[in-house]
Amino acid sequence: MGQISLVFASIGLVLFSGASANPLDKRAAVDDCLSRLKVPVFTPGSGDYTQALKPFNLRVTFKPAAYAVPTTVQHVQDAVSCGAQNNVVVTAKSGGHSYGSHGLGGEDGHLIVDMKNFNTVTVDQGSSTAVIGTGGRLGNVATALYNQGKQAISHGTCPGVGVGGLTLHGGYGLISRSKGLTLDNIVEATVVLANSTVVTASTTQNPDLFWALRGAGAAFGIVTNFKFKTFTAPENNIVFNYQVSPGNAAQLAQIINAMQNFTRFEQPPELNMRLFLSGFTTFSGVYYGSRANFDAIMNPLKQKMGIGNAFGSVSTNSWLNTLTSFSNGPLQQAAVYDTHETFFSKSLMPEYLPPAAVDALSRYWEQNARSNSRSWYLLFDSHAGAKSAISSVSADSTSYAHRNATFKMQFYDRVNSGNYDPSWFPFLNNWIKAIKDASPGINYGMYINYADTSLTKDEAHKSYWLGNYDKLVQVKAAYDPKKVFVGPQLVGS
Ligand SMILES: Cc1cc2nc3c(=O)[nH]c(=O)nc-3n(C[C@H](O)[C@H](O)[C@H](O)COP(=O)(O)OP(=O)(O)OC[C@H]3O[C@@H](n4cnc5c(N)ncnc54)[C@H](O)[C@@H]3O)c2cc1C
Ligand SMILES: *[C@@H]1O[C@H](CO)[C@@H](O)[C@H](O)[C@H]1NC(C)=O
Ligand SMILES: *[C@@H]1O[C@H](CO)[C@@H](O)[C@H](O)[C@H]1NC(C)=O
Ligand SMILES: *[C@@H]1O[C@H](CO)[C@@H](O)[C@H](O)[C@H]1NC(C)=O
Repeated sequence: MGQISLVFASIGLVLFSGASANPLDKRAAVDDCLSRLKVPVFTPGSGDYTQALKPFNLRVTFKPAAYAVPTTVQHVQDAVSCGAQNNVVVTAKSGGHSYGSHGLGGEDGHLIVDMKNFNTVTVDQGSSTAVIGTGGRLGNVATALYNQGKQAISHGTCPGVGVGGLTLHGGYGLISRSKGLTLDNIVEATVVLANSTVVTASTTQNPDLFWALRGAGAAFGIVTNFKFKTFTAPENNIVFNYQVSPGNAAQLAQIINAMQNFTRFEQPPELNMRLFLSGFTTFSGVYYGSRANFDAIMNPLKQKMGIGNAFGSVSTNSWLNTLTSFSNGPLQQAAVYDTHETFFSKSLMPEYLPPAAVDALSRYWEQNARSNSRSWYLLFDSHAGAKSAISSVSADSTSYAHRNATFKMQFYDRVNSGNYDPSWFPFLNNWIKAIKDASPGINYGMYINYADTSLTKDEAHKSYWLGNYDKLVQVKAAYDPKKVFVGPQLVGS
C-alpha cells in the first residue's frame, strides 16, 4: 500500500514538473505575478516587445518567458521574486550587445529584466565619482559625464554597448592602459540579490560579492547602478590610424611579433593601440601626450613592425572627438536602439603568443582568411604588459582573470545581409585551432564579453575565468543557492 502511493506520488511529481516546464503556463503565471505587483512589462505582439527581442547579434535570438521593464529598484526586486517563485530563471539586460545574446538569456524561457530605464549619470565633482545606471549606453554616458565638469571613465569604444554587461565582465577601451578596465574603477554597486534583497557591494560591504561582480557579474544579481571613480577628460590627444598591407605571412608575423614585444616590455601607459586585420588592415590608437613624444615612440616601433612607410593620419583631438574617432558614428544614441549585425565571434587572451603561434596565425591568414570575401576581422588590442594599468592588479583580486594577457584578440566573421551559414563556423574555429596546435602549453583564456556560442559550459567556465572559477562557484552558492540567475555560460550554471 505504502509502495503504491509512493509510486502514485512520484507519477504526480513527474506530471507536475512536466506541466510546469511548459513555457506558456509559466508565461501566464509570471505575467500574472508581474501584473499583481505592478511591474511594467512589454507583451508579445506589441512593437516594443518585437523591437526589444532584436539583439545586437541577429544570428542569436531567443524567446523569453516574460519581459519586465522596471522603472524603480522595487520593481526589480518584485520581478526577481516573480521569477524565483515560478521557477523561471531571471536575466538582466542592459545594452543587449552580448555576442551570444546573453541579455536575452542565451536560451529560451527566461524572465528578462530590461534595465533601459536605469540610465541616469550623476557626477559628484567634489569626490571625483559618478553614479551611473546600468541601462545607460556608453555614448550617452560619456557625453553626460563630460557635460558635468568634463569628467570621464575608462570604457569600451562602441557607443551602443550597455554599461551593465560591459562593466560586469571587463570593459576595455583606448585609455585602459593608464586607467584600467571599466571594472577597475567601480567604487560600489547597488545589487538586487536572488532573494530580492538590495545590498551594496564594495571592498568593505559584501566584499566577496564585489569580487565576483567584477568579472562574472551576470550570475550574481541585478546591478541597478555603479558608483565609479572619474577623472578629468584629457584633451589634445594624438589619434593615429595607419593603413598597413602585409603582403605575405612573414610580413604579418613581423608586425605581430614587434607589436607584441613592444606591448609586453616597453609600451608606456599613455599609449593605447590595436591592429585591425581584415580586408583593409589598420594599426591605430591614441596617445595621451605631446606630438613630439608620440613621434619619438611611434617611429622606431613602426620600423620594427616593418611598416615605416605606412600611409595614415595623425591628428590632435578633444576627448569627445577622441571617442568619436573609434565609435563608428555619433556618441549620442537614439531612444530606440536599432543597429544590428549578423556574426559569429571568438576570442583569445594569450599571456604570450610564441613565434610558432604567430607563424601559424599568419599562415592561416595567408592561406584561408585573405581570400575570404565575407566581412571578417581579427582585432589585436594591446592589453597587458609591464607598464599597463590592467596588469598592475593581481589576477585574483577581482574575478576578471586575464590580467597578464598581452593581447585581447577578437575573431569576428559577419555577413552584411542574409543569414550566417553554419558551414562557415569552421573558418574561425580552425584559425584558433591552428594557433593552439602550434603552441602547446600556452594558456589561452577567452573574454566573456566576446561570448563564443560554440563553447561547452565547461570550456566556457575554464576559459572565461581560469583559476578564479572555483572561488566564483563558492560565492555563487552563498548569494544564489537556488540558481535564479542562470545562463548557458554563466558561473554555476
Ligand atoms: C559593437 C560592439 C563593440 C564592443 N566594443 C567593446 C569594447 O570596446 N570593449 C569591451 O570590453 N567590450 C566591447 N564589446 C563587448 C561588450 O562589452 C559586451 O558585449 C557586453 O557584455 C555588452 O553589454 P550589454 O549590457 O550591452 O549587453 P547585454 O546583452 O544586455 O548583457 C550582457 C551580459 O551582462 C548581463 N547584464 C547586463 N546588465 C546587467 C545588470 N544590470 N546586472 C547583472 N547582469 C547584467 C546580462 O545578463 C548578460 O549576461 C563590444 C560589443 C559590441 C557589440
Ligand atoms: C623584445 O624586447 C626586449 C626588451 O626591449 C628586447 O631585449 C628583445 O630583444 C626583444 N625581442 C624581440 C624578439 O624583438
Ligand atoms: C598569467 O596569468 C595566468 C592566469 O591567471 C597564470 O596562470 C599565469 O601563471 C600568469 N603568468 C605570469 C607570468 O604571471
Ligand atoms: C538574502 O541573501 C543574502 C545573501 O545570501 C543573505 O545574506 C540574506 O540574509 C538573505 N535575506 C533574506 C531576507 O533571506
